[in-house]
Amino acid sequence: MKLKTFLFLFFLNSTFLLQASDKLLIKIETERTSLIYQVGDNGRLYQKYLGKKLNHNSDMQHLPQGTEAYLAHGMEDYFEPAVHILHNDHNSSLLLKYVEHSSAQTGDGVNETVITLKDDKYPVTVKLHYVTYSKENIIRTFSEISHQEEKPVVLSKYASSMLHLNRNRYFLTEFSGDWAHEAAIAERELAFGKKVIDTKLGARANMFVSPFFQLSLDDPSRENAGEVLVGTLGWTGNFRFTFEIDNKNELRIISGINPYASEYNLPAKEVFRTPDFYFTYSCSGIGEASRSFHDWARNYQVNKGNETRMTLLNNWEATYFDFDENKLIGLMDEASKLGVDMFLLDDGWFANKYPRSGDHQGLGDWEETAGKLPNGIGHLVEEAQKKGVKFGLWIEPEMVNPKSELYETHKDWVIHLPNRDEYYFRNQMVLDLSNPKVQDHVFGVVDKLMTKYPGIAFFKWDCNSPITNIYSMYLKENQSHLYIDYVRGLYKVLDRIKAKYPDLPMMLCAGGGGRSDYEALKYFTEFWPSDNTDPVERLFIQWGFSQIFPSKTLCAHVTTWNRSTSIKFRTDVAMMCKLGFDIKLDDMNQNEHVYCNEAVKNYNRLKPAILEGDLYRLVSPYGSNHTSSMYVGKDKQSAVVFAFDIHPRYAEKTLPVRLQGLDSNRTYRVKEINLMPGNGSSLKGNDQVFSGEYLMTVGLELFTTQQLHSRIIEITRE
Ligand code: DGJ
Repeated sequence: MKLKTFLFLFFLNSTFLLQASDKLLIKIETERTSLIYQVGDNGRLYQKYLGKKLNHNSDMQHLPQGTEAYLAHGMEDYFEPAVHILHNDHNSSLLLKYVEHSSAQTGDGVNETVITLKDDKYPVTVKLHYVTYSKENIIRTFSEISHQEEKPVVLSKYASSMLHLNRNRYFLTEFSGDWAHEAAIAERELAFGKKVIDTKLGARANMFVSPFFQLSLDDPSRENAGEVLVGTLGWTGNFRFTFEIDNKNELRIISGINPYASEYNLPAKEVFRTPDFYFTYSCSGIGEASRSFHDWARNYQVNKGNETRMTLLNNWEATYFDFDENKLIGLMDEASKLGVDMFLLDDGWFANKYPRSGDHQGLGDWEETAGKLPNGIGHLVEEAQKKGVKFGLWIEPEMVNPKSELYETHKDWVIHLPNRDEYYFRNQMVLDLSNPKVQDHVFGVVDKLMTKYPGIAFFKWDCNSPITNIYSMYLKENQSHLYIDYVRGLYKVLDRIKAKYPDLPMMLCAGGGGRSDYEALKYFTEFWPSDNTDPVERLFIQWGFSQIFPSKTLCAHVTTWNRSTSIKFRTDVAMMCKLGFDIKLDDMNQNEHVYCNEAVKNYNRLKPAILEGDLYRLVSPYGSNHTSSMYVGKDKQSAVVFAFDIHPRYAEKTLPVRLQGLDSNRTYRVKEINLMPGNGSSLKGNDQVFSGEYLMTVGLELFTTQQLHSRIIEITRE
């Protein structure tokens, strides 16, 4: 590079240094958001501003000083700190002062700012990292804590991020639930004191609550208006978000690993790197915040984020554990008739001493059950290939049944209390991933299968148990590291898999949506949001997860749950996400076969809009008898609208629904698709041309008063 170009780029990309009242300002910005820090006269770092982008440097001097950026325990602050360290001399105070900062462009539209803080009484350094994705309006933050004391220091708090807001009112939306009703939305106003959203389940960490939130400022959240901060933590384990309102009605948000039972003894010179916290600040409601996350996730975070996804037929609901080779080959035929891309073999194919005939035994012994599959997985892969479908396989490699050969030979690999009775969740226990030998074993499960059967095209990676009765034979005196080292061990395994098999797509599953975070999605192409495939419930569950995750990451299967809904209704719901089937063809009649076949073809045609387009949530199922969402292709050439009447009241008045995201000055043809064979469309305006303006201002009469009725409407630019 020529010196002149280098100097130009250096000044362009290096530190944003501005002088306001002679104090150093550090601006962290995207196209739409500013996060501004300033070094005070006392040398400490203050968060001066967080909100809509400020474009005039001359205004900076008018901003108030704000609150200290990364508050530590033991000094003058009265509320929850971001960091708490016990030094070698048993003093636990920390006073962080600004030392330096730098900023550099690390990608197209991506900038990283690193602010270094140090204590001048103790050799402790904290580096705050801020990575901005300008166009997508996402900020990724993490911290690095290190020291040079003689012996290890004890970290008892170690936040990824601390953010401050100063508004009249704060409304927090959480996404909690349980097995089969994941990501249920609840919004509440915050008042003085703390609200904590956390988990301490270890492995199936998100069983009761997902690691993301929406914080609406001044008013309850709205889809297309209002200021909202939406945040999520990339950590496949215990997380904690603390929202604390102080005596001045100022709010601090502290996000990171849940430090519960996780004091970390940090040796000198080792860097404690926290997980990433990602957030967006939208001034146009939660709809825009979701689209920002979806774009960023596809462009930067999710494994194969910009690639398409395979439709599939899964055998779990169709057979449970009751199958043999012939039954599976029959299902492959059905997959091929349906026109899907892949057949996915679920739980129940492995173990011989204790064959996996149910969920009470066999987990850990990853050889095919000879009685069920005499010709092994290799034969199934070949059969699938002959039928023109790919072959995928279910595994749960982090777990073990006590009734297994693995348990008999390696009890020392199992997390359990050596002096107490064992406790089983779904008859199983969790392997100790802090132990490198266990990491080798877990990596080996995938590696051995892939080496023996390179035709395997996909894995579904399940994880059904939380960590209970926590104790590691490997960690010895460092027991309080187990929750953290477990997750780090998992990432080491996933890193090895991704390095060796970069083209292998994988679905993340944890007894439904018990794992749903953006760090895991660096390795996984998609996840299973819930075992609940009742389409009515799915409308709510998918609505919840869509707040953060793009449709291509949300697996949705057509099953026999809720037989009072039609196959069409079930399929229309599943087509809003990553479509799959988990049903035998003899659970359907001939008309329904024809319908499903057509639906798969339609889905393949609409993939660019559904999987890569912009999501507009039009009518929420919460508090309504109907719901509707639409996806608009990035080029605005095509869009697809989904509309569902759930349980409308008799003679209920339904109003037209205004579409969004189209080009007002273009014309579009509106056509209902996915109709049952022989049925015409009753949609007013079907197969007619409208301007984008009309569709977005007047709207379409999408809803009816029929129970459990659905419509998919394709919108094509003329
Ligand atoms: C739980 C998953 O959520 C299901 O989809 C299925 O794979 C079972 N585990 C198999 O045991």
